[in-house]
Amino acid sequence: MSRVILSRYLIEQARSNNTPDDLCFLIEAVARACKEISQVVSKGALGGILGSMGTENVQGEEQKKLDVISNEILLKANEWGGHLAAMASEEMGHAYQIPRKYPKGANLLVFDPLDGSFNIDITATVGTIFSVLHCPNEYLSQNEVLNEKAFLQPGTEQVAAGYAIYGPQTMLILTVGDGVQGFTLDREIGSFVLTHEDMNIPASTQEFAINMSNQRYWEEPVIRYVGELIAGQDGPLEKNFNMRWVAAMVADVHRILIRGGLFMYPRDRREPSKPGKLRLMYEASPMSFLVEQAGGASTNGYQRILDIQPKGLHQRVAVFLGSKEEVERITAYHKQ
Ligand code: F6P
Repeated sequence: MSRVILSRYLIEQARSNNTPDDLCFLIEAVARACKEISQVVSKGALGGILGSMGTENVQGEEQKKLDVISNEILLKANEWGGHLAAMASEEMGHAYQIPRKYPKGANLLVFDPLDGSFNIDITATVGTIFSVLHCPNEYLSQNEVLNEKAFLQPGTEQVAAGYAIYGPQTMLILTVGDGVQGFTLDREIGSFVLTHEDMNIPASTQEFAINMSNQRYWEEPVIRYVGELIAGQDGPLEKNFNMRWVAAMVADVHRILIRGGLFMYPRDRREPSKPGKLRLMYEASPMSFLVEQAGGASTNGYQRILDIQPKGLHQRVAVFLGSKEEVERITAYHKQ
């Protein structure tokens, strides 16, 4: 049987599911950029790309050289195609305007160019997360600078989302709102090949992921729930749970898409002004779209993440996502 590469999957989606052509071209451009990032990541010290830039991003976090390189690769791969009205990224304070020499399109691309970048120096998994939105008509203009308010749409408005994971294999996990498909990069032919069709998250699980070192800052519902997970079969949940934490959201979410589980990054009392660590628009929202498309659930403890109306490009949010039964349980504990 012939193998289905990403281009064929997208062309067939355009035929059968009315996925617009410009969205297909855009996803191909993102995928090309991810192949390039994968190549650069794999060079490590040989490419002189490890370590810090000596700068901070807009959220005051140290930027790794590869954060900046990956951001640049994504901008350059996507600015010329005529499919985008603008781009926004974790690494830039403001939206990136399409240079005047190129035509503009009707989509908005938001990304975290290198998620989990502190894993780079230890050769552990990192990834790229992306989300595509339609640019509302009132913000579309060939000549004017795009107003950033165009990006501030709830996750339910996403037309596509996905991530590339750079681990022992490079994979691209994608949804265009018709389930979740996983493609593995075949380096011999240079294409992403469909290897994980219709990925599905089992409703129940015995695995969870959380950074336990923050326990003393957690709020009551999380303390109660994690206590019950750890109590295992001797506690109220009456089953044992295993714990995993890769410290790269792509890797933890990928594990959940493969075999189920619960990922938590709760809001905590470390910095009361910040409602959680993860960013809504380019981390929580695209991952929630994927997780829901795979049959899982995702909330901030109180409401569905995809329903949250963003107030800013770099807004933070608490995240509980993965197997439905456990997301529902921790959400119920918050509401009690
Ligand atoms: O937001 C970036 C990120 O690296 C996520 O990919 C990951 O889940 C989380 O932060 C790890 O946070 P911590 O360093 O607090 O464990």
